[in-house]
Amino acid sequence: MQIFRTPREMQDFVRESRRAGKTIGFVPTMGAFHAGHLSLMRRAASENDVAVVSLFVNPTQFNEAADLAAYPRDEAADARLAESAGIQVMYAPDASAMYPPGFATTVSVAGVSEVLEGATRGPGHFQGVATVVAKLLNAVACDRVYLGQKDAQQVAVLHRMIRDLDFDVDVVVCATVREPDGLAMSSRNARLRGDDRTRALALRHGLDAALGEIARGERAMERVQMAGLRAMHEKGVDPEYFAIVDPTSFMPLARLNGDVLIAVAARVGPVRLIDNELVHVS
Ligand code: PAJ
Repeated sequence: MQIFRTPREMQDFVRESRRAGKTIGFVPTMGAFHAGHLSLMRRAASENDVAVVSLFVNPTQFNEAADLAAYPRDEAADARLAESAGIQVMYAPDASAMYPPGFATTVSVAGVSEVLEGATRGPGHFQGVATVVAKLLNAVACDRVYLGQKDAQQVAVLHRMIRDLDFDVDVVVCATVREPDGLAMSSRNARLRGDDRTRALALRHGLDAALGEIARGERAMERVQMAGLRAMHEKGVDPEYFAIVDPTSFMPLARLNGDVLIAVAARVGPVRLIDNELVHVS
């Protein structure tokens, strides 16, 4: 596996690959790989001639200094895992290569960035994500970019950015990979200890309760939401939000109909967790 450290090196490699007629699949990440990341990498490797992963813990998208400081980093272990998932190239730029002195440009996506995660984590979060992904897509000019449904609002923000700024790339959204008990895999799960690990299942229980209400024919938004909240409270967790929104705009829905996203965020012990379910209601 090759490792590149600067945009120029990465661009030179991509130009050569494209000249040879190869398709390129790209998985942007912040490292600390788990089965969720690896499923994106395997898919990118299976659907393209060349699969590239980026590893960059992007400081501009963290709204808490403690969260950034605690973010797990082990590049050598990540490189081995990426290679085993079929990745040929790792793009791991230094912060100075990504944000050289005088860096002054940001990408911000109005609307969809401003609610739920955007409202809780502040306007800098999705601006940090959109800016770094725009830079990564310019370095790794790929045919397909692979994103996880786990971060549903990130998917919506990046979809909007890619359309609005005419990036010539297809977005492939991959299903959320979960632990056997249903907890969505996350690099932050490693910081859940003892009772907190059990309480973390409250998110899954809340989503299941809401899905159950919809499956039983409930169409009143507040009742579905109440069922989710009640299930979470029973597990001892009070969510930051438990929302039912349009999966593209993230605006509240007038009616429970068509594609519906149920999104939840909660603090469990030292960690902030998110999860969601996409359902089609007819
Ligand atoms: P990171 O949190 O490392 O996630 C990298 C990719 O893995 C994202 O597309 C995320 O949605 C996906 N992912 C994480 N957990 C998953 C799971 N349990 N199942 C399926 N996919 C999962 O998201 C980021 O990094 C950053 O914001 C980034 C886009 C790289 C920009 O810095």
